[in-house]
Amino acid sequence: MTTSTKVRNLPGLLEPEGDWRNVFSYHPMDVELARAEGIHLYDTEGRRYIDASGGPMAVNLGHNDARMKAVLTAQLDDYAYVHPVLANRQRANLCNAVASVTPPSLNATDVVSGGSEVVETAIKIARQYHVATGQHSKYKTIALNESYHGMTLATMALSGNPRTTQHFEPLLPKWLHIQQYSDYRRPEGVDRETWAMTCAAELERAILYEGPETVAAFIATPHGCGPDYGVVAPAAYWREIRRICDAYDVLLIADEVITGFGRTGRWFGMDHFGVVPDMMVFGKGIGSCYAPLAAVTVSDRIDRSFKDGAYFVHGFTYGGHPLACAAGVKVIEILKEDRLVENSAAMGAHLHAQRDRLLVHPSVADVRGWGLFMVLELVETRSPRGYFAPERKAEQLLQSITLANGLVFYSTLYGPRRAPMMSRGLPIWVSPPLTITAGEVDDLVDLLDRSLGEWEDVLGVR
Ligand SMILES: Cc1ncc(COP(=O)(O)O)c(C=O)c1O
Repeated sequence: MTTSTKVRNLPGLLEPEGDWRNVFSYHPMDVELARAEGIHLYDTEGRRYIDASGGPMAVNLGHNDARMKAVLTAQLDDYAYVHPVLANRQRANLCNAVASVTPPSLNATDVVSGGSEVVETAIKIARQYHVATGQHSKYKTIALNESYHGMTLATMALSGNPRTTQHFEPLLPKWLHIQQYSDYRRPEGVDRETWAMTCAAELERAILYEGPETVAAFIATPHGCGPDYGVVAPAAYWREIRRICDAYDVLLIADEVITGFGRTGRWFGMDHFGVVPDMMVFGKGIGSCYAPLAAVTVSDRIDRSFKDGAYFVHGFTYGGHPLACAAGVKVIEILKEDRLVENSAAMGAHLHAQRDRLLVHPSVADVRGWGLFMVLELVETRSPRGYFAPERKAEQLLQSITLANGLVFYSTLYGPRRAPMMSRGLPIWVSPPLTITAGEVDDLVDLLDRSLGEWEDVLGVR
């Protein structure tokens, strides 16, 4: 692996120029991708990098899979697009493939082309479901503080980060947000299970405060968000959330955009808890970045109400695009054939077994997550917790150093782009393609270990 010690240009400091001069608001590192293979990316100068976060936690298959290229080419040979008034077999194939892996009571799927679009689709389904079943006043969706569900105006309103949304106010109706399950806020001496019940009770309080007759849905990711990014709540939390939703006829929407399709070592994040939501939304891994694809799968109960006559008022030109659907079908086939969900569990265990090696670094306050989804929380001081001031450009510097060492990480780059609501550590996502081998996990951890050391030296963290 080529390792250059040259610190790459810092994003946000460059004026886009040359071929990039007309790309709106674009802050690339000065590394241009030439090709990709397996877990590796190659730049135009021939340097090799590990795709350490799988793009934005989205590349579940390896890059350049010949089977994916064959299926996409074959689909192009037949047709690239189906007129919406005609039957689209690829859409049906994808919906059936999804139903083969979702919980038995979740079968019908609506197909769109991106994660934000699909979250918005889910809240529209929730609203229309309640109207269809005669509960016209149920329209609000409750979400979590610091959560992230997308970048459209509605999904930004749903996400819980006022620092991001402040530039765009007024948003679409900003419904209620509650505190998530948090290990940070857990009082000393209170165990996780007991605390889980206290955290879940927030939902019941919020529903009662708003009026149960106005609340349509609750949406959350199966793992923590914001300062608790990657925290996995005890199953008791989700069981209690399920009970509360049932008690007030509030639909439970699991945003599985990141966790779906094997990332956590199970097909879906919610599988770990034995809790079945009313809707699951998928993005990222379902198309594994071979095509823009996202989908929402609804419970038979919701589906029934639409089959009974309420036509879902929705649809996008690219919804159910045959190329994207064909890609999704093949992704699911390959995940099964190559046993990649099992590999995610095994390689996830191998990765997390090296947790202590990363925790030796004074900047690493925590390492958490599940399967091939590990989140490092980086801080300036561990005790008491001290966070990097944005002016220190700690995240951009880490990006530069990891790139120089042959690792590409996704990052929030939240200094220049998106300020967090509360002070928090820098999240680093280790979420490589699910095809990774034990040797490649070791290479990744070696390079990360080295990069953290170099970064701490430059910033004087000790
Ligand atoms: C949990 C979650 N939901 C929704 C989205 C939005 O997906 P997209 O970027 O495809 O619009 C994301 C994106 O990171 C996400 O992490």
